[in-house]
Amino acid sequence: MLVLGIETSCDETAAAVVSDTMPRIRGNVVFSQMEEHRPFGGIVPEIAARAHLDHLDPVIERALAEAEIGFGDLDAVAATGGPGLIGGVIVGVVEAKAIAYARGLPFIAVNHLEGHALTARLIGDVAFPFLLLLVSGGHCQLLVVEGVGRYRRLGTTIDDAAGEAFDKGAKLLGLGYPGGPAIERAAKTGDPKRFALPRPMAGRAGCDFSFSGLKTALRLAVEKHVSLEPRDIADLAAGFQDAIIESLADRTIHAIRQFRDLYPDGRTLVVSGGVAANTALRRRLESLARGSALDFVAPPVALCTDNGAMIGWAGIERLRLGLVDTLDFAPRPRWPLDPDAVPVRGAGVKA
Ligand code: KG4
Ligand code: ZN
Repeated sequence: MLVLGIETSCDETAAAVVSDTMPRIRGNVVFSQMEEHRPFGGIVPEIAARAHLDHLDPVIERALAEAEIGFGDLDAVAATGGPGLIGGVIVGVVEAKAIAYARGLPFIAVNHLEGHALTARLIGDVAFPFLLLLVSGGHCQLLVVEGVGRYRRLGTTIDDAAGEAFDKGAKLLGLGYPGGPAIERAAKTGDPKRFALPRPMAGRAGCDFSFSGLKTALRLAVEKHVSLEPRDIADLAAGFQDAIIESLADRTIHAIRQFRDLYPDGRTLVVSGGVAANTALRRRLESLARGSALDFVAPPVALCTDNGAMIGWAGIERLRLGLVDTLDFAPRPRWPLDPDAVPVRGAGVKA
């Protein structure tokens, strides 16, 4: 089985050819629009949509060439159907529908978050149910993945996502965009203990997240300095990264307890999404999992950030179960994995 996966929901234009037999990833091409957004210090949705239009065709061609196949060899076409920046999602969905229609192939609309969630099964044999910490630029959630299309949300953020916090923190420190990798780099030489920054939500009941107070604390610390020396920036970056990781860890500890109670057969903690590229976070979660006698799975960094392989793989998992979509599927800017989750109150609640 060969599935083309298309990802255009944010600032990566990506396509991959994925198989249900080894090697699973046959072709995988990611075009990062970073340089087009960098002058603006963040992603500009209209620029992203136009850039997807410009780059998607050659990206798909290269993915097929890497896999050494043509459109005629495909069994299905999958594209991110949401959630995300709607202009970009429309570009990917329309392209996938056109290929599917022209070739008479099934079309599969994949929830971007399901793509991140199932990446663990693309790289290894992780059994359902597993506990997932999904941390990216747009999302910050703890979920139990019970099966394909079956999710139970244990916690979400009441304001910013973890990646968003990294990005905003980097901006305050003058470290540029994207913030996560920049903060991680600066933090390497910093002293995380010099500035006392809060660990948001730590010790509170439940598994929800909040990062806006931490961002304010960082801003106040920055404003106290007339000019920031490289030493100060490194120490602030280290303290800020530590605070985010400790907050994520505290929430995950609560989630592990709930997971244990609700799913005695569950054996694995998985981390996914762009922030899962962070080495210090991976280490912290690995030791947490070990302490709780859980296996720990973190996909390779290139599969944590947005890519087409995760969409192609989710397509394969869906195709196996006969979960295909019709060509009248409408792209969805919002698309929660667990529609039954209790709504949380907060400033800018993410679905
Ligand atoms: O999953 P992703 O590529 O896109 C979304 O779906 O949001 O995640 C991008 C996010 C950005 O906020 C970026 O700053 C963050 O992931 N990120 C990191 C690291 N690499 C990327 N955050 C912390 N440490 C990193 N090394
Ligand atoms: Zn993502």
